[in-house]
Amino acid sequence: MAGSRKRQDVVLFEPVFTSKAMKRLDASIQKVAEKDVTITLLGESGTGKDIMARRCHELSHRRAGPFVPINCAAIPEQLFESELFGRERGAFTGSTERAIGKIEAASGGTLFLDEIGELPLSLQPKLLRFLESHRFMRLGGTAKLAADVRLICATLKSLPEEVAAGRFRADLYYRIQGITFTVPPLRERPADIEPLLDYFVRHCTAQHGVAAPTFPKAVRARLATWRWPGNVRELRNLVEQLCLLESGKRLQPTDLPPVMRSRVPDALLELPLSLTLAEVTERYIDAVLSSEMGNRARAARRLHVSARTLVRRRPTAAGVVKGP
Ligand SMILES: Nc1ncnc2c1ncn2[C@@H]1O[C@H](COP(=O)(O)OP(=O)(O)OP(=O)(O)O)[C@@H](O)[C@H]1O
Ligand SMILES: [Mg+2]
Repeated sequence: MAGSRKRQDVVLFEPVFTSKAMKRLDASIQKVAEKDVTITLLGESGTGKDIMARRCHELSHRRAGPFVPINCAAIPEQLFESELFGRERGAFTGSTERAIGKIEAASGGTLFLDEIGELPLSLQPKLLRFLESHRFMRLGGTAKLAADVRLICATLKSLPEEVAAGRFRADLYYRIQGITFTVPPLRERPADIEPLLDYFVRHCTAQHGVAAPTFPKAVRARLATWRWPGNVRELRNLVEQLCLLESGKRLQPTDLPPVMRSRVPDALLELPLSLTLAEVTERYIDAVLSSEMGNRARAARRLHVSARTLVRRRPTAAGVVKGP
């Protein structure tokens, strides 16, 4: 669905939350923000690792300095060293200008290494050397330069697992481990859904100059029980879509994306990993059939298959009616 698509997020700096879990996390971040310790943020995609990293910077004594993010997953390995450490003129073919790297740009502020689990192995010893000495050399340079940066890391991957698999160096892992926080998934803090919804509506209507749609109880109830696989980003994208396409309208549950309208039983979302793909498919077909009151034609339309295919896959499904 549109909500789970990751795109360039326009950064909103103030995190919004009222849940106990986020209040606890924020209180812990406030305690360590002023100290120059390395912080690692864990959490599913879209939970708010970026926004909490910025919050940590804003709460620190470095707030007047730069906040420099670098997405380790987005930079090709051969360019990484120069991105991080900078380069001298002529460092490699085609580099006609001196360029400063992210470490130098972050001096006096915070360097945010996003998706650090993707940092190429070849660069890991160089980053470790910098973190231990606070000194580095630009690519093609000979002078040792100093940079005073505070490091915040974020990762979707489990670093201990990456270390065990030989994809992440243990020495770097222990050096950056510092203090680790997990940003909880949105489904574990439903108290944040309403305030985030209202916040994104205000933000989106002001940004695009459109009238806000009304979210009646029935729609809010559906949002409150949805599992939000794309977390806060998914909610933000959904609100944006509704504000633009349904501006000024009193929304109905039918205005929500089809996948959110179906009531997939929780049991289906927590399937045992021992099932075969065929068994999972069968259970899913059964769930869709039951949510359509056994109406085979409607279930087939929802699954984008022909009614005949549906019957072939589940000839004995209970409660099946022919339907329109
Ligand atoms: N508490 C919050 N208040 C307001 N906006 C939020 C909050 N949490 C997340 N967002 C918004 O949701 C979107 C996703 O958040 P963010 O980029 O921080 O997630 P992430 O955990 O870094 O995701 P990824 O792992 O995919 O990089 C952003 O647009 C961000 O501004
Ligand atoms: Mg992020």
